[in-house]
Amino acid sequence: MQVHHKRPKHQLLKYNKMKTVLITGGSGLVGSYLSKKLIEKGYVVATLGRESKKQSDIPNYTWNIEKNELEDGALENVDFIIHLAGANIGESRWTTKRKKEIVDSRIKSSQLIFRKITENKHHLKAFISASAIGYYGAVNTDKIFVETDQPSQDFLGETCRLWEEAANSFESLGIRTVTIRTGVVLTYQGGALAKMITPVKVGLGASIGSGKQYMPWIHIDDLCEIYLKAIEENNMHGAFNAVAPEHKTNREFSETLTKVLKKKVWFPSIPAFLLKIIFGKMSEIILNGSRISSNKIIKEGFQFKFPDLSSALADLIYSNRK
Ligand SMILES: NC(=O)c1ccc[n+]([C@@H]2O[C@H](COP(=O)([O-])OP(=O)(O)OC[C@H]3O[C@@H](n4cnc5c(N)ncnc54)[C@H](OP(=O)(O)O)[C@@H]3O)[C@@H](O)[C@H]2O)c1
Repeated sequence: MQVHHKRPKHQLLKYNKMKTVLITGGSGLVGSYLSKKLIEKGYVVATLGRESKKQSDIPNYTWNIEKNELEDGALENVDFIIHLAGANIGESRWTTKRKKEIVDSRIKSSQLIFRKITENKHHLKAFISASAIGYYGAVNTDKIFVETDQPSQDFLGETCRLWEEAANSFESLGIRTVTIRTGVVLTYQGGALAKMITPVKVGLGASIGSGKQYMPWIHIDDLCEIYLKAIEENNMHGAFNAVAPEHKTNREFSETLTKVLKKKVWFPSIPAFLLKIIFGKMSEIILNGSRISSNKIIKEGFQFKFPDLSSALADLIYSNRK
């Protein structure tokens, strides 16, 4: 059945046993893969975004976070919310205005949903929010960060702390809450990997700065499975790191990528000062990087399909999946 945008939207697809998942920022890199995955698994999916997407096969609702507006019906019959919305942290320089946008798009959006949920009848079972490994700060040491570590006091650490605090407020309504501290997501198209492949193909895929900074990563399929697990397992609460178990520094990452692409690198490492000039403060996210543990999610019974970088890259680059 094809559903476009005549009302009612996802309610049309709501059968007795099918659970409905509303994904905020569902049009983004993670959301578009996750929507497909959840539909394949038999969930009813709807998305919530800033603009109506008339061409989309997935029912979608709109909101205006600044104006505190959320389209009628968006939260009706929703069993799970996956909160992915947020201004992209790597898209433009971190001016004061952009930093505010990065924070507000994540936190005010959560608060808007929270208010609407408290004002209306709902049967929301869990609120699952993205978070990021930026929670721990970017520090080039061998310490392996775990979920019980304190948040860093830098901009991203503070953003993640507030982001998770906004998500955790749903617990006060008796709604289960999970936050997914995500590493660099590797996908078949777009995202960080696409940006890294192009220079390697022309022999410029050198490491960045010292190359010693860790680069916690995760294959998109594994990340989607973690979100699915967070939906399906009622005992899952709190923060989980979503990073592959194999720890790679930036240099090791570049070397593995070069090998998988069967290329040679002709250029020495890209100097830190150059990146600082080009990207300003934002360069921190590529020049520094912490080592992050995946033990908690593994102890929860999660099995990574792509635990090592070589097999993840080979799959993403050669499998022709989109
Ligand atoms: N990709 C990664 O490597 C990675 C790593 C760690 C954490 N994360 C986090 O995981 C979440 C999903 O990541 P992603 O890669 O899918 O992000 P993305 O591709 O940048 O998509 C995020 C979505 O958020 C919405 N959005 C953007 N700017 C917004 C704003 N100013 N106000 C409200 N909504 C806005 C957009 O949806 P609409 O246009 O439909 O509104 C956008 O498609 C993000 O919160 C991100 O920070 C991602």
